[in-house]
Amino acid sequence: AHFPAPQGQAMPELEAQPTAARGGAGFNVAVLGAAGGIGQPLSLLLKLSPRVTQLRLYDVANTAGVAADLSHINTAARVSAHTGADQLPDALYGAHLVVIPAGVPRKPGMTRDDLFNINAGIVRTLCEGVARYCPTAWVALISNPVNSTVPIAAEVFRSAGTLSPGHLFGVTTLDVVRANTFVAEAAGLHPGEVNVPVIGGHAGVTILPVLSAVTPRISLPEDKARALMERIQDAGTEVVKAKAGAGSATLSMAQAAARFAEACMRAMSGEPGVVECAYVASSLTDLPYFASPLRLGPAGIEEFLPLPRLNALEKDNFERMKAELQASIHKGLDFARK
Ligand code: NAD
Ligand code: LMR
Repeated sequence: AHFPAPQGQAMPELEAQPTAARGGAGFNVAVLGAAGGIGQPLSLLLKLSPRVTQLRLYDVANTAGVAADLSHINTAARVSAHTGADQLPDALYGAHLVVIPAGVPRKPGMTRDDLFNINAGIVRTLCEGVARYCPTAWVALISNPVNSTVPIAAEVFRSAGTLSPGHLFGVTTLDVVRANTFVAEAAGLHPGEVNVPVIGGHAGVTILPVLSAVTPRISLPEDKARALMERIQDAGTEVVKAKAGAGSATLSMAQAAARFAEACMRAMSGEPGVVECAYVASSLTDLPYFASPLRLGPAGIEEFLPLPRLNALEKDNFERMKAELQASIHKGLDFARK
């Protein structure tokens, strides 16, 4: 089917050029799930970004109020509200980057996989929209369970003929942000100067912070390293418990997603040396989807950086994650192929 561009908007093929190729114009970013706990602070941070010129806010409800509120901030990004499936095309046309925090969050006692039944369908529908209305956009997927929703998104794009694996990212930045914070606390460093590569996936044991490869180098006794690793793996649950039924991480996630979105826009602009960890289609290990440090450029993923060497504790965790990550990937693929 052919879908004409809404009035006054360029077709995606033209709009989706990297900034450098478009004479320095800014980016058109769509947030799907923009009225939610993550969506609102994320949209605020994107409204503050000088790289964003159009900010499209999409949700099934309450979008107009969030957009009206943000639109009064005196930054350049033009904010628009799009509510309900009928308005999804307008939200997506011409988007360079689509960030997706739509879906339900955990309550205490739930695993991320318990969200699958609701969120898998939401992600599939939204990605069908992306395939149709902005097929060249980069997609940053936040909705849980990320270990399964990214394979679902990939299958939607594959069957639509629009899959570009180097443009599809499961956002694991919050794991890196947390790891940097907790390591800095433990080592007496400033959190801003610490960088922990976090590999694997985004749930429990699949989150593998490689503490032996932290920069700057730190030396931790094994019991301390194990405790830190477990705290990073359980950090989402720590927030779910503290919020006691009112949801999961939203503010730290918004900051992490904004950091990842900035990295995408810097890379699209041709800025060299943009490296972030994300969960993507990967051949670095036997697992078809895997999070690892990636060098991003105008074409998307330009290089999978070599995995850091793992010590005995990390190797053991890597072995323990395989079955769970594989099962989550298959669950997503099976759902999408049904
Ligand atoms: P929330 O319930 O506060 O907000 C979700 C928003 O999605 C709501 O505004 C809702 O209306 C909207 N929504 C629901 N169905 C939709 C649809 N079909 N189309 C568009 N929007 C729709 O939840 P939240 O706290 O913002 O969390 C959102 C998701 O992000 C959850 O799945 C959560 O588990 C996940 N999450 C991921 C990470 C990560 O590190 N990747 C971190 C935190 C949360
Ligand atoms: C997180 O890591 O905070 C998110 O995945 C939300 C959750 O359910 O823990």
